[in-house]
Amino acid sequence: MVGSGCSATPVSRSAEPRPIGVFDSGVGGLTVLAALEQALPTESFVYLGDTARLPYGTKSAASVERYALQCAAALVARHVKALVVACNTASAAALPALRQAYPDMPIVGVISPGAKAAVAVTRNRRIVVLATEGTVRAGAYQNAIAQLDAHASVMAVGCSVFVALAEEGWGEGDIAERVARRYLGDLFNRDDAPDTLLLGCTHFPLLRRTLAAIVPAGVSIVDSAQTTAAAVAALIQSDPASADQRGRSTFLATDSPERFARVGGLFLGRPIQAAVVERVDV
Ligand code: DGL
Repeated sequence: MVGSGCSATPVSRSAEPRPIGVFDSGVGGLTVLAALEQALPTESFVYLGDTARLPYGTKSAASVERYALQCAAALVARHVKALVVACNTASAAALPALRQAYPDMPIVGVISPGAKAAVAVTRNRRIVVLATEGTVRAGAYQNAIAQLDAHASVMAVGCSVFVALAEEGWGEGDIAERVARRYLGDLFNRDDAPDTLLLGCTHFPLLRRTLAAIVPAGVSIVDSAQTTAAAVAALIQSDPASADQRGRSTFLATDSPERFARVGGLFLGRPIQAAVVERVDV
């Protein structure tokens, strides 16, 4: 199994419905939460954004692993029944340590589902992955795609500035377009151009329209939100008795609830009230 996918342990039956824990370095993982809410409408979710330490993408793997273990511990303390690592950088750096720390907990990362989405749509088996520095450095997508298709060619491009653009609400417009053109260079203007662009960072769906406007028609743009939700659904729906039935999300942030709510609404696709965001230390 690819290292960043779901673990095989099924969700155990329990009398008390328990939420699914989801964490990210900040608000980017809310794009994954939106897909989870849609795929699993009767489940409840606790979402933790480690906004005080964002970005993870420029930090060392050792720091990201430590942060991820702390986020997981905070969610496990809230009795979650599964963990979704809704951050590519944390999935790349910390899944083995998380699985070692919580061997009985179903844990789903976003890398393997993203790789599956890209391999499923590419026709010429040439894929460009846009991700953070940390995810690119770890070779996470390169490895995950190679396990699914050893003959696929993968080019990973670190695009850390996209994170700041998305957080600022500038995912569209002339600045985003210039930055995107700079990162993509002539990748799509060659004879051997890829036909698939994989958004390997939870912030990047906010730049989807900008990217779609500058890549040639026919290039598929995919992200891991839907395929991650499908992987979680496959685990969770095997045990309908454990569904919460209330279908709601609660929000935790390690920094200002106001900023989490304001920026997070862009990622979740619906408003978040600051009053419902709890500030926590992890
Ligand atoms: N959530 C991170 C990811 O998906 C991007 C933001 C960050 O660098 O922390 O890689």
